[in-house]
Amino acid sequence: MSTHPHSPPTGTVPSGVERRNLLRWTAYGTHHLTARTEIPEPERVYWGYWQEVGPGEEILGDLAGRRVLDLCSGMGRFAAHLAASGARVDAVEGARSQHERAVARFGDRPGLRLIHADAVDHLERAEPYDVVLSAHGLSYLDPRRVLPALTRALRPGGRLVFSVLHTNSAGDGPSDSVTARSGTRACGSGRATPWILGRTPPAT
Ligand SMILES: C[S@@+](CC[C@H](N)C(=O)[O-])C[C@H]1O[C@@H](n2cnc3c(N)ncnc32)[C@H](O)[C@@H]1O
Repeated sequence: MSTHPHSPPTGTVPSGVERRNLLRWTAYGTHHLTARTEIPEPERVYWGYWQEVGPGEEILGDLAGRRVLDLCSGMGRFAAHLAASGARVDAVEGARSQHERAVARFGDRPGLRLIHADAVDHLERAEPYDVVLSAHGLSYLDPRRVLPALTRALRPGGRLVFSVLHTNSAGDGPSDSVTARSGTRACGSGRATPWILGRTPPAT
């Protein structure tokens, strides 16, 4: 494990920020498990936090018979939806409570494997996938850890589709610095710390 605060994390060992994010999501999932919050059947894949934003799963291409990974799959709703279209879908979720919600709701779906694991740990071990998707999951992982692992986990010519925030809730846009923003994204009653990256466009 990296001990220096500025050392990039490597391999399968999550950084402190990643572990704290996962604790937040675990608390969020536990709250909803306890409250028995209903998980609706999604009619499509949503890429935004606010559902109707963006294209649907058509941007993933024809999935019939494909090996698909939903990374940071939460309660498994999109993975279950894609499995119904004939894909062989693995759904990997790191927070045990979120994984348990997925198992309780979608555990009996044909073609769907629900896996409780750290995302990068899974990417390092899995057979390559044809398609990897992640709806608002990658923000909670250090890009220096997850991006190299993704290149290994996608077969040549495979497709990666993901959504992340480009601006935090304080209105701060992308930054050149590979640093998680503290306290920027509500996560249940707590706040997770996402990475919001990209070059800031020059002022015009
Ligand atoms: C915003 S939720 C999105 C869930 C799902 N993609 C959806 O749209 O319904 C982010 C998810 O990423 C998961 N997550 C965070 N860190 C993770 C990690 N290191 N490995 C696997 N999953 C992780 C969280 O537990 C949470 O369920």
